[in-house]
Amino acid sequence: MSGLQKALLLPTKQGQFTLGDVPIPTPGSGELLVKIESTGLNPLDWKVREYGIVREDYPVLLGYDAAGIVEEVGPNVQGFAKGDNVCFQAGPTNSYCAFQQYALAAVHVTAKIPSNITFDEAVSVPSGINTAAMGLFAHDITVYGAKLSPPWKDAGIGKHAGKPILILGGSSCVGHFTIQVARLSGFSPIITTASLHNTDLLKSIGATHVLDRNLSADALHAEITKITKQPIELVWDSISEPSTQNMAYDLTSPGGTLVLVLWDTIDPAKKAAQPGKNVIAHIGADFAVWEDGTGTWQALPKLLENGSIKPMRTEVSEGGLNGIVPGLERLKNNRVSAAKLVVHPQETV
Ligand SMILES: NC(=O)c1ccc[n+]([C@@H]2O[C@H](COP(=O)([O-])OP(=O)(O)OC[C@H]3O[C@@H](n4cnc5c(N)ncnc54)[C@H](OP(=O)(O)O)[C@@H]3O)[C@@H](O)[C@H]2O)c1
Repeated sequence: MSGLQKALLLPTKQGQFTLGDVPIPTPGSGELLVKIESTGLNPLDWKVREYGIVREDYPVLLGYDAAGIVEEVGPNVQGFAKGDNVCFQAGPTNSYCAFQQYALAAVHVTAKIPSNITFDEAVSVPSGINTAAMGLFAHDITVYGAKLSPPWKDAGIGKHAGKPILILGGSSCVGHFTIQVARLSGFSPIITTASLHNTDLLKSIGATHVLDRNLSADALHAEITKITKQPIELVWDSISEPSTQNMAYDLTSPGGTLVLVLWDTIDPAKKAAQPGKNVIAHIGADFAVWEDGTGTWQALPKLLENGSIKPMRTEVSEGGLNGIVPGLERLKNNRVSAAKLVVHPQETV
């Protein structure tokens, strides 16, 4: 397939998003060309524009979550065929990004979508499950993870039974999937923070206790002590703003591990006062090492089909690719709660 397609471009660093025409890419070895039906929006998309970070290859396309229909299969691909419904971890460079109507998908970060899952539901999954899985399970020295065993491999299911975990920000996309992976791994109790109107939702996916995200570190500590007398040896900060990072560090037990999903901004004086806590800044930006033997993408179709992993609630930002700019504005202003914002690139006029 060749020709032009609609895409939302960021022409220059910290410039304005602009709708334009770009060539439809051709799949190479180990790649698929996918007609994108649903694109998911991520905080990273507005951060790249606002702060001029991560990308230098301007003009750039962004968009790191995609779902659609396989249009063409490249050489050396097994297990995928034209017409398959798939979701994939999009990015990091233009041909692979999701702010366009057709993109390349690398098969090692692509999964077939089971028939019980819609494109919109499927597109809520890639970045969330990847971040959760890599942050908890990665062993590779180039990707930092807590080096646990994935629950979908070997004897990983239920392996951490009876061990508590604290997950700050359970209603974020990253939190939504981390709670579910922790549930499959057997962690208990699974304590999370969120706005309390999300309590039922978070309990339905595996959180055992939902605490108000506005509590101070001291108040949270008091509540956690009422829930379990065990030390909290694993803390996951799905939000990883300086305020949550510092709080998470305080709540990690001596000798325990804290996983962050952004760069470490914990106060050095706090670290000096409480030495011996292991901080993992899990930054999943290096596409080449996304898979790292965790088996996540191979396991995903079954996990979605049997309901072990549930997609997020989704909200559509209307207008095809033109829905991206207002959607990113909502994300930036914290106007999205416990939902993945999606757009439908094929509806672009
Ligand atoms: N390292 C990586 O590979 C990687 C990958 C993906 C994302 N990230 C980063 O991870 C962070 C989360 O991304 P996301 O896509 O999951 O975000 P998101 O879904 O857009 O997050 C929105 C949610 O965050 C919750 N929230 C905001 N501030 C909070 C706080 N102080 N305490 C508890 N909950 C809070 C809100 O909860 P309520 O509505 O309940 O109040 C809301 O539901 C972002 O900084 C993103 O850049 C990193």
